Amino acid sequence: MHDVLITENIRGEATQRIAQRFDVTFLPDLWKDSAELLRRIPEFRALIVRNQTRVDRALLDAAAKLVVVGRAGVGLDNVDVKAATDLNILVTSTPDQNAISVAELAIGMTLALARKIIPAHENTFIGNWNRQHFYGVELYGKTFGIVGAGKIGYLTASRARAFGMKILAYDPYVSHDNIYLSELAAQFVSLEDLLSRSDVVSCHLPSTPETAGLLNGRMFARMKSTAFFVNTARGEVVVEEDLAEALASGVLAGAALDVRSQEPPRPSALERAPNILLTPHIAAFTHEAQQRVTAAICEDVARVLDGLTAQNAVNRVKRR
Ligand code: MLT
Repeated sequence: MHDVLITENIRGEATQRIAQRFDVTFLPDLWKDSAELLRRIPEFRALIVRNQTRVDRALLDAAAKLVVVGRAGVGLDNVDVKAATDLNILVTSTPDQNAISVAELAIGMTLALARKIIPAHENTFIGNWNRQHFYGVELYGKTFGIVGAGKIGYLTASRARAFGMKILAYDPYVSHDNIYLSELAAQFVSLEDLLSRSDVVSCHLPSTPETAGLLNGRMFARMKSTAFFVNTARGEVVVEEDLAEALASGVLAGAALDVRSQEPPRPSALERAPNILLTPHIAAFTHEAQQRVTAAICEDVARVLDGLTAQNAVNRVKRR
């Protein structure tokens, strides 16, 4: 009996532990071959993925024995949760386990933009010593706007607060008297207000039909010409051509993107834009976060296979 199929590079002590109790098939490149995945899936009771395996209705329809999908990460844009629910398949994720790492990258990117760390390194590395070229700005006393005030937005804002920044927040789904954000003296404002008042705008929105293309040319035009935009959430939230244009025309001062609308991205105007910092969706890629994510997802999948209640279920299904 095949129990668990892992289709991406998810390793660690926790995968070894689950393999001691269940029959685990580890095929870290299977996400690239959707036909082969469709052929293999009917054998398995559990599927563990990261963000690259497309867990769509066609795959779930073919998964005759599947009881649980474990998403090692927080975003659910690659999993059709509605189809899973229709088919009585539980979906479980790791909502908080990589939040600190994402917040730390967002702050790292902010500092890199404010102090021109990457261009200064590149210039010095080739033998120059151009101190005058790399005047930056302080974060102290400036305004940090979080677009999306969930766990990651909060953790990022709390780190910005430690730098002496004022916090603005936009999130139509978070209560304005949220205790954690109140402790940061965060002020909830409209998106338009946040964009026009912030010196750094840090995006922490999930990818949904509602957020697709939300940050577009019209929105960038509201930002200060000295402001920075940082996105460690999802690429689909940003109209990338509009951001490239805004950078090229000096509408804003710089941007850092860890995520793209298509990953890996096709070369675009963004790679040629001034003051852009690009990384390959590494926000959650720290040893600590991955250890926590892998442990949590393996534990939850094992619980479901044992007939217990999942700790981080994202849908409701009937017990089987
Ligand atoms: C997440 O959704 O947890 C992050 O984007 C990281 C990932 O998917 O690997």
